[in-house]
Amino acid sequence: MEVGSLKIAYAPGKVILFGEHAVVYGQPAIAVPVTQVQARATVEPGSEGQGITIVAEDLEQSYSLEQAPPSDALRAIVVSTLEHIGVGTKHDLAITVSSTIPIARGLGSGAAISTAIVRALSQHFGNLLSPQTISDLVYETEKIYHGTPSGIDNTVIAFEKPVYFVRDQKIKIFSVKRPFLLAIADTGIASPTKIAVSDVRRAWKREREKYEEIFEEIGTIAEMGRRAIERGEIETVGRLMNENHRLLQLIGVSSPELEGLVEAAREGGALGAKLSGAGRGGNIIALVTQETRSRVDLMLRLAGAKDVIITEVS
Ligand code: MEV
Repeated sequence: MEVGSLKIAYAPGKVILFGEHAVVYGQPAIAVPVTQVQARATVEPGSEGQGITIVAEDLEQSYSLEQAPPSDALRAIVVSTLEHIGVGTKHDLAITVSSTIPIARGLGSGAAISTAIVRALSQHFGNLLSPQTISDLVYETEKIYHGTPSGIDNTVIAFEKPVYFVRDQKIKIFSVKRPFLLAIADTGIASPTKIAVSDVRRAWKREREKYEEIFEEIGTIAEMGRRAIERGEIETVGRLMNENHRLLQLIGVSSPELEGLVEAAREGGALGAKLSGAGRGGNIIALVTQETRSRVDLMLRLAGAKDVIITEVS
């Protein structure tokens, strides 16, 4: 077993293009990686007898694996990765994590941090894991962050490719005929996925038929969205984003701040705009072109966006 010195690994953020929430109920969804933001994990040998230390730089926290409760997501991903590799947890190691992905904004920060840790540990022990194995390991930790995750975040982040995702099915990768640009705008409001997902579940239990119908419509949009992307029909992608947003409003996951940004993007000339991720806060995404990107960016900032990232889907 090769044990090197410092190992560094990264993982990107993600946005959901179509199908959030409905994907939890078995409908298809599309997500794409966002490489402008990323999580980073390093693993290096620690001093003898120190055991495993986890340093969460952004939170200014440092703790030993032994002290952490089983509900600690970082502990969970470290233990399950070491068990999977088959090396046990008795090591002297320092694991440091940091991230430029804002937390609880629908950009997959939890899944990205876990993915970076799995990658760094697997490099350290010289046991490189496949994207599917990484995704499966991260999915278990996602349950701690999210309660009942569909698995889309860990999949798109571990594979780092646009994915057409259906819960409990093998990942489907698809081709993007004409690359396109997304503006991702942050409301600045943290909204834990767990809360929005459990609120939707409660509402679904109360009005099952209505919600199932909406989820099915969202699923159809995701499927049409994939076809439009494969054919390079960008205007259709934009129209479908608007339609998806309307359905997300109906299930109660939008907010005045999200509405403000969606409106601003459309006024700025975006071909379509919608909230992305769990909603309530977090980010919106808008489909822009080289011609409209600066104007949409400006309109979003004037409407209160705390940050705007432009990313290419290709
Ligand atoms: C979270 O990125 C997207 C949701 O659909 C939850 C999930 O799929 O687990 C809201």
